[in-house]
Amino acid sequence: MASDYQFNTLDISTDSNGLAVVTINRPKSLNALNAEVITELDTLFASIEEDEDVAGIILTGAGDKAFVAGADIRQFTALDAESGQAFARRGQAVFTQIEQLRKPVIAAVNGFALGGGCELALACHLRFASSNAQFGQPEVNLGILPGYGGSQRLPRIVGKGLAMEMILTGEMVGAARAYEIGLVNRVSSPESLLDEARAMMSTILSKAPLAIGYSIEAVNCSDRPMKEGMQREASLFGMACSTDDFTEGASAFLEKRAPVFKGT
Ligand code: COA
Repeated sequence: MASDYQFNTLDISTDSNGLAVVTINRPKSLNALNAEVITELDTLFASIEEDEDVAGIILTGAGDKAFVAGADIRQFTALDAESGQAFARRGQAVFTQIEQLRKPVIAAVNGFALGGGCELALACHLRFASSNAQFGQPEVNLGILPGYGGSQRLPRIVGKGLAMEMILTGEMVGAARAYEIGLVNRVSSPESLLDEARAMMSTILSKAPLAIGYSIEAVNCSDRPMKEGMQREASLFGMACSTDDFTEGASAFLEKRAPVFKGT
């Protein structure tokens, strides 16, 4: 199925282990998100949950300069109060779909991740940065604010104070600082970025797939009130207990052998 995808702005390569590397490919515009990219991300992530060929996704940008330098500013001149709100809701919905995917998504941030690019990375489950990565929410420079979820996800990841600073100043944060504040999980050289992301994905994909999907959902619920999150955790735990992979995982441990997970 993965081989059937045909996109103008996304390049997709898959391997036999179920890893899909998705590259946003508009390098002349530093991979800025125009309506076509948003539509194609929407289409891709709507179908990838059910795609048996894909178990995990690494999202990156074409070229050596940018992950994504934001929403495409050329589109902004047409926005007014009503269309601006619709624009924000559309991007929010697409990024939330990525966040809620029950397959792991790693952002491999290979340069600028600004505005919508930073927000896209924030919606991914893990963020890996190359040493030349720069994160920022520079919307105030344009007279707007983050509209694709940045004002909500950034404080949840780095804390309210640092998020407020980034959003109010519009200043960029380099890779080392991003690591220091918990914005990224790893920093590596540009040359080894994809390999590092692949290595962690390979670790994740060696685990029980349903448990990985349930874990993503449970951690995403940490945005909700504690009681609600606890209830969802218990219900997902119960679902995991009814899987074949749980039987296999527990038996393998007791029999001192490696488990063979089937995703059922
Ligand atoms: N939307 C549309 N085009 C963009 C873009 C964006 N968000 N970011 C960069 N580009 C385009 C530039 O217009 C330029 O196109 P051109 O060659 O046709 O003139 C090309 O990408 C290269 O960018 P340039 O500005 O020349 O590169 P730089 O190295 O001097 O600066 C940035 C890089 C990222 C600092 C700078 O491009 C920038 O500030 N971009 C906007 C970032 C932003 O505000 N994003 C949030 C939007 S809400």
